[in-house]
Amino acid sequence: MLAKTNLKYESQKLAINYFTVAVVLFGAQLLMGLIAAAQYLFPSFLYGVFDFNISRMVHINAMVVWMLYAMIGSVYYLLPEESGKEVVGLKFGKIAFWVLTLAVTVVVLVYIFVQIGPADMKTIWFINEGREYIEAPRWADIGIVAVVLVFYYNVFATYQKGKKTGILNVLVADLFALAGLYLCGMFFTDNVSIDQYWWWWVIHLWVEATWEVFVGAIAGFALIKIINAKREIVEMWLWIEVLMLFGSGIMGLGHHYFWIGTPEYWWEIGALFSSLEPVPLVAMFVHVLYDWGREKGHSDAKGEKSPLRNSPAMAWLALNAIGNFLGAGIWGFFHTLPQVNIYTHGTQFTAAHGHLAFFGAYATILTGMIYIAIQGLVGIERVKMTTKTKLSIAFISLGVLGMTVALTIAGYEQTLVERADLGGGWDAYFIAQNLPWYVQAQGWRFAMGVVTFIGYILLVWDMLTINKAQKEGV
Ligand code: HEM
Ligand code: HEM
Ligand SMILES: [Fe+2]
Repeated sequence: MLAKTNLKYESQKLAINYFTVAVVLFGAQLLMGLIAAAQYLFPSFLYGVFDFNISRMVHINAMVVWMLYAMIGSVYYLLPEESGKEVVGLKFGKIAFWVLTLAVTVVVLVYIFVQIGPADMKTIWFINEGREYIEAPRWADIGIVAVVLVFYYNVFATYQKGKKTGILNVLVADLFALAGLYLCGMFFTDNVSIDQYWWWWVIHLWVEATWEVFVGAIAGFALIKIINAKREIVEMWLWIEVLMLFGSGIMGLGHHYFWIGTPEYWWEIGALFSSLEPVPLVAMFVHVLYDWGREKGHSDAKGEKSPLRNSPAMAWLALNAIGNFLGAGIWGFFHTLPQVNIYTHGTQFTAAHGHLAFFGAYATILTGMIYIAIQGLVGIERVKMTTKTKLSIAFISLGVLGMTVALTIAGYEQTLVERADLGGGWDAYFIAQNLPWYVQAQGWRFAMGVVTFIGYILLVWDMLTINKAQKEGV
């Protein structure tokens, strides 16, 4: 994949670095998930050596970090093409990449070597901040802020100099909000309610507002590139989605305030606005299909009929539309009303939603962007799917969907037995976890995790060889 480069811009070469680390971390995420899933089945597996709290933490941290890497990679890839200018300040951009990668490595090594210890300020500064998904210690937080400042400066200065397309207007504003929100997870208060309150500003306002808008922007770029979608149409939808996503997503934050000691008026606010969140997700789904259908039979500037320049990327984009709608829209809506959440809160149902939503809304489209970057890197006009592309898509989607169904069944059992029948509490929790439906569901989750992992291996193999396969004819 890295043999020779046909990329026009230096920043696109930097993007390849970011994408490479992202793919490696995706693999690490899956391996950690498999260890955590095995520990559900055999609680003594690696006990005292590599405990569940560590495998789980590294699993979800690796996920967040690989997605952020792939997002930065996507921006460095599309920015010069959209703006028509090489990205400004790349020398610092390259240094920032190595600083960030070194910092991530050190943080993970510390997680692995220092698994237990006191909960004091030294721990917060050097080992672990204890906030799920963003556990990185404070020294790393500050480093991340410095790296992001360099990145944002590069993006903003390039934007100022070049062509200001609708996609870039949205992207540049969105990245500012996305980066700024990280600050909400950096300070410590010893009141748990206040701490959780701000923590959700990062988690929810990332995945249900700023990341979704980001995805809208890069989907727009990708559709124009792959199928020649009309820019005015893509951008019009993008603005509508921005409006709706921010509208419902910001107040939808209330669905995380049911349980943390915030005032009761959040029940109604959370119920109403979070229920509206699926609307823009449906719009996004329709958007992709509509654009695609509309283009069929039309010719592009070169007189080419129905161009489909990168079918692996297009397949991942279509999966994104479906996955986002199902994982975030449907599985999210299931448990967002307080009347339902009173039973489902914190069960495996939440984990089912978390898996399908993160995969459907983000893993898919970022993988698609990586295929677009590979196409640029090797300089081929048209990329067709290979058998490995198809198999990897089949295994990964089947695996993640299978895990989601298994976890939904486990969550359903917990809801009925632990919550509705036994009324919750310590004993109820353990009784529900030991009943056959729950145990079998955890077995299926592990099996489906293995299927996902096989798909990942095929995916990496495909990414490394798709160039050669095109030349030999597929
Ligand atoms: C791509 C977008 C989304 C992603 C990646 C996502 C991911 C997640 C994750 C990982 C959690 C668990 C958080 C934890 O560890 O406590 C969660 C919780 C939750 N999500 Fe989402 N979500 C998304 C969109 C949505 C939408 C659109 C809705 C509603 C329509 C929704 C409703 C909820 C609710 C109600 C909870 C709390 C569950 C509980 O009480 O245990 N999510 N989400
Ligand atoms: C090999 C495949 C995978 C396996 C075996 C696996 C397993 C696990 C396990 C055991 C947990 C801990 C659940 C708990 O605390 O109850 C977990 C959490 C989580 N995983 Fe995975 N996972 C896999 C792939 C993925 C993928 C592909 C994604 C998304 C792209 C993902 C996202 C998450 C999230 C967001 C959580 C936290 C959920 C929550 O807090 O509710 N995982 N996973
Ligand atoms: Fe949320």
